[in-house]
Amino acid sequence: MTRHVLITGGCGFIGSNFVRYVRAQRPAWRITNIDKLTEAGNLQNLADVPEDERYRFVMGDICDAPLVGRLIHDCTDIVHLAAETHVDRSIMDARPFIHSNVLGTQTILDAALRTFEARSSGRLVFASTDEVYGSLPLDRPDLKFTEDSPLRPNNPYSASKAAADMMVRAYHETFGLDCVVTRCCNNFGPNQFPEKVIPLFVTNLLEGKHVPLYGDGKNVRDWIHVEDYCSALLTMLERGQSGATYNVGANNERSNLELTRELLRVLGQGPDMIRHVADRLGHDRRYAIDATKLETELSWQATRSAWPEALERTVRWYQDNESWWRAVKSGVYKDYYRRQYGLFDEAEMDSPSAR
Ligand code: NAD
Ligand code: DAU
Repeated sequence: MTRHVLITGGCGFIGSNFVRYVRAQRPAWRITNIDKLTEAGNLQNLADVPEDERYRFVMGDICDAPLVGRLIHDCTDIVHLAAETHVDRSIMDARPFIHSNVLGTQTILDAALRTFEARSSGRLVFASTDEVYGSLPLDRPDLKFTEDSPLRPNNPYSASKAAADMMVRAYHETFGLDCVVTRCCNNFGPNQFPEKVIPLFVTNLLEGKHVPLYGDGKNVRDWIHVEDYCSALLTMLERGQSGATYNVGANNERSNLELTRELLRVLGQGPDMIRHVADRLGHDRRYAIDATKLETELSWQATRSAWPEALERTVRWYQDNESWWRAVKSGVYKDYYRRQYGLFDEAEMDSPSAR
């Protein structure tokens, strides 16, 4: 039977790259993409992908159980990426994060269970995050997160992802649902919404604006190119062990200050473009991923993430796609809540202004 994958959140950064990656690597497969088109979800991200018998887009909310049930009924597998993803937004208002990340995941799990159990086949791959592990100290560079590290999420976003991650585990343990959980580090690459640090800083610099560096700039993130994460997702979908959790990383740790200096170098600008601003609340100090399990069990390797080449390629993409980011950036935050709460008339969610 031809594989037909339901990709949730396919209009976002990783989702749109994954739709393109699967089409290139597995041309016979069919894809259905369900996306609510939040501020980070953008149809323009897939403007080059025509709707045909191989690809279908459905605008909708993953909390819409009847819709999700119908879509899963037609599919053989699910790659579940849809989520509210920006930590700063979760600090401003956690409610949409519980809605999409927790309730949305449970809705997908229930529908998957009904359909896949009846059919005795069908796999769910869930994109969790390295943020569920919490933070590592800067003075212990020897420490990295393994799959056995305790979950200690520190912000509303990561707490909502940890809840979803644990629900996926529970559906495997309780009902035997075929699930794989992936915990990946920070992605970078084309089509990333410019509220995340790399596209925000690159586009600010291209606009001649300063870049807002939080706190002392010493916080460390582990950076992977989105194409490497896409190849990991496909590997886990095809060959991951049922019920397993896999870390995904590229051994590419940088402090935010190092990252910023690298971007300034690539764009030929000086340190005077940095503005040191107030720190993020609950700002995790360091993330570092040990991806040995994925590398040894499934022979996966990150091959496209090495700096400076991968970062320079990414900067070039934003330079070459100015109309994309200018259009996206002009809408950042503007009408966010109108779209978030108005478009779907979610009676159970109060708008912040109504509270
Ligand atoms: P993104 O914000 O760019 O995209 C998320 C997509 O989900 C958007 O298109 C949005 O419209 C859609 N969405 C949100 N709520 C929805 C809902 N209720 N119903 C339907 N669609 C909805 O995020 P991303 O960076 O592409 O991340 C994708 C996934 O990978 C997320 O689950 C995230 O937690 C996880 N992840 C991301 C990173 C990273 O560095 N970007 C790292 C590890 C894990
Ligand atoms: O680690 C995986 C996670 O990476 C994903 O699960 C999240 O969805 C994704 O958003 C990302 O989270 P971060 O919080 O690490 O990414 P962000 O781009 O928001 O910030 C990266 C670092 O840069 C962080 O230490 C905060 C800092 N920062 C960020 C912004 C937006 C700044 O200094 N200034 C900024 O303006």
